[in-house]
Amino acid sequence: MTEPTHFDTGAREWDQRPTSLQLAAVPPRLLAQVPFAATDRVLDFGAGTGLLATAIARHVAHVTALDSSGPMLQVLREKGFANITTLQQDIFDGLPERYDAIVSCMAMHHVPDTRALLQAFADALQPGGRIALVDLYAEDGSFHGDNAAKGVHHFGFAPDALQALAEQAGLQGIAFTEVLRMHRSNGREYPLFLMTGHKP
Ligand SMILES: C[S@@+](CC[C@H](N)C(=O)[O-])C[C@H]1O[C@@H](n2cnc3c(N)ncnc32)[C@H](O)[C@@H]1O
Repeated sequence: MTEPTHFDTGAREWDQRPTSLQLAAVPPRLLAQVPFAATDRVLDFGAGTGLLATAIARHVAHVTALDSSGPMLQVLREKGFANITTLQQDIFDGLPERYDAIVSCMAMHHVPDTRALLQAFADALQPGGRIALVDLYAEDGSFHGDNAAKGVHHFGFAPDALQALAEQAGLQGIAFTEVLRMHRSNGREYPLFLMTGHKP
């Protein structure tokens, strides 16, 4: 029996956290920048309680909400979206289909091997498929504070390094825009990027 994670124990209150309330600005900004088609089948990596999945599901055919936390996905299921399927597994355990787009918000920094993660994304995309990934720009570790307890493996990301890994994985047209500035109780601001690109 493994210990419950920070996400398992926090799932019921997740959407009311100050951080989640600020992150609610991300889905409309992502949707304004990234085109989706009504026929698209989308993977949300680290979907949690569905911050992105529930917004995107209104514009596409289907969203697979992948997360290793059962309690986070239970909260998402209770939101009652007919075209969202939850998938409780690790991202590296193999994926059941190829997707037209892969999205993610604030999950990449929880995965130790970013190179393998971007390769898994590239492998899971249809030709022409797109990525739209949101996470922290490089910071000093003060965003989460208790990084070990929260399973944080990266203090944000440098765009150049991420772009190089994405291109090595076979993705093209990589671009970054600042999508949100988060305010924390330590009085500091932390910018978040939206990374876009596609598989040729
Ligand atoms: C900070 S939460 C973000 C949740 C949601 N995207 C949001 O923005 O509110 C990160 C999520 O990624 C999930 N996660 C972390 N590593 C994972 C992995 N290797 N495979 C699947 N899910 C993972 C966690 O369980 C957690 O629910």
